[in-house]
Amino acid sequence: MSESAWPHNGYLYGVDVPRFRDSNGDGIGDLPGVLERLDYIAELGVSWVWLLPFYPSERRDNGYDVDDHVGVDERFGDVDDFEALVRECHRRGISVLVDLVIHHTSDHHRWFQEGRRDRSSRYGNYYVWADEPVDVPNDVNVFPGEENDVWTYDEAAHGWYHHQFYEFQPDLNLANPEVFEEIVRIGTTWLERGVDGFRLDAAIPAVTKKPTLGTEVDDRVFFQRLRSRLAEVRGDVVLVGEADVHPVAMAPLVHGGQMDAVLDFALNNNVFLALTRENPDAIYLALESLDTAVPPPARVNFMRNADELDLQQLTDEERREVFTAFAPDPEMLLYGRGLRRGWTPMMGNPQRFRMTLSLLAALPGVPLLLQGQELGIGDDLSVEGRGAGRPTMQWADAPAGGFSDRADAPFVLPAQRSGPYDFARVNVERQQGDPRSHLILARTLARLRADACLGILQARRVALPGAPRVLALRTWDKTSPCDTVTLHNLSAMPQPIRLDLRTTTLLGEEWHGDALGGYGFVWLRVLEPGGMA
Ligand code: BGC
Repeated sequence: MSESAWPHNGYLYGVDVPRFRDSNGDGIGDLPGVLERLDYIAELGVSWVWLLPFYPSERRDNGYDVDDHVGVDERFGDVDDFEALVRECHRRGISVLVDLVIHHTSDHHRWFQEGRRDRSSRYGNYYVWADEPVDVPNDVNVFPGEENDVWTYDEAAHGWYHHQFYEFQPDLNLANPEVFEEIVRIGTTWLERGVDGFRLDAAIPAVTKKPTLGTEVDDRVFFQRLRSRLAEVRGDVVLVGEADVHPVAMAPLVHGGQMDAVLDFALNNNVFLALTRENPDAIYLALESLDTAVPPPARVNFMRNADELDLQQLTDEERREVFTAFAPDPEMLLYGRGLRRGWTPMMGNPQRFRMTLSLLAALPGVPLLLQGQELGIGDDLSVEGRGAGRPTMQWADAPAGGFSDRADAPFVLPAQRSGPYDFARVNVERQQGDPRSHLILARTLARLRADACLGILQARRVALPGAPRVLALRTWDKTSPCDTVTLHNLSAMPQPIRLDLRTTTLLGEEWHGDALGGYGFVWLRVLEPGGMA
């Protein structure tokens, strides 16, 4: 078994293929388009690319309604294009993660179409059926308001199928050994095509018992078996689980080595709480409980993922506080638990956005950026639901923002053509040439965090008397030559800084040596290694 490519020092960079770059002028982004822009991705300081679903799908759920798990949607290219992209990523030292959607299929999937003809057939048994809906407490749909039930009647099957997500996404029964073998086959196919790992979509709902008999799986055993079967194909396969749970529930997913990392919603939620309160305590507390549960290399940090900003890891009262601060308008809210807005518009002030870009890079773990976040891209609340936070990449001040040669490309949203985040103002071409741009900051941060070993070390709190609004973290351990202090002022109010350490400044904004201005931040190298403040 070879050494795993995880953890790593660079960004994990999410690419939503239809919205990234259209190479053939049909208005839809494609795999050759991603390949065309790989140098840009490499220069940003990316070590892993995560390709969001590009499988054949009607895209009623941004591609998570998969029709064929081993195919490539012909709008985006073909398997040869995919393999060429992976080869070129590898040539640049970038590894590739793709989604493994194990919890459900689309209702157009061949398995479901065959299975619904006879519920007790081979494919019928791939899904979760009942003669009548079986109601159990807490078995609720993930998208309240958009989808209110977890059971839908199917005429052909003369029965009800269970769906935790949309009605067009029937749940797979992962307790069925044949389904497990299908998942292994899918994973094997992509590994043979060169991918380095998988994002296990909806990993927790996938292993949660459904309300009928014969649907129970032991999560530890399931993921261990999955890892070991995939490792037979590729010893260093990387598995990153989507796990919107408390740190204590994340721990068993990584401790047995089943998964290399989890997407950490707990820290994300507490970062927003800390920003709301302009006080770092929520982050310190979250880091404490995370550090004992899941080591930093096994945590993927993000500010905004590709869904809503889901605040389920906060208490009701904390969540309300964040809503009050970041969602002045009720149409910004979603599912009673989250926000539809994009990261930059939520920050409002450019310096505040820059401080959070730096904060993301400074947190222990692996930082995830989604395409365009490095530019401070906007959102579009006129788009329904989660689509508001999924903008198309803005390459230049050109028709369709340089995304496509077709000026009326369907994925370019109204908000990208006008307003404070339109592509005339916010684009790669413009920011590349501006040393003070968000893009150049994102690149600088990637280099700094690599030098500071932030992907692997824990961060400890540094005492900072008189500056209660500043998050002060020191990343250091006795086995490593890296010793870095990062300070982030979460508030608009200047804060005095009295640090009892000899340091040199690596990067600072609103940094005056003895004070941090509003939303200022600084990265310091400690010159006397050893010993914590
Ligand atoms: C993805 C969502 C998707 C859901 C169902 C999630 O975790 O991030 O976008 O709707 O899985 O597949």
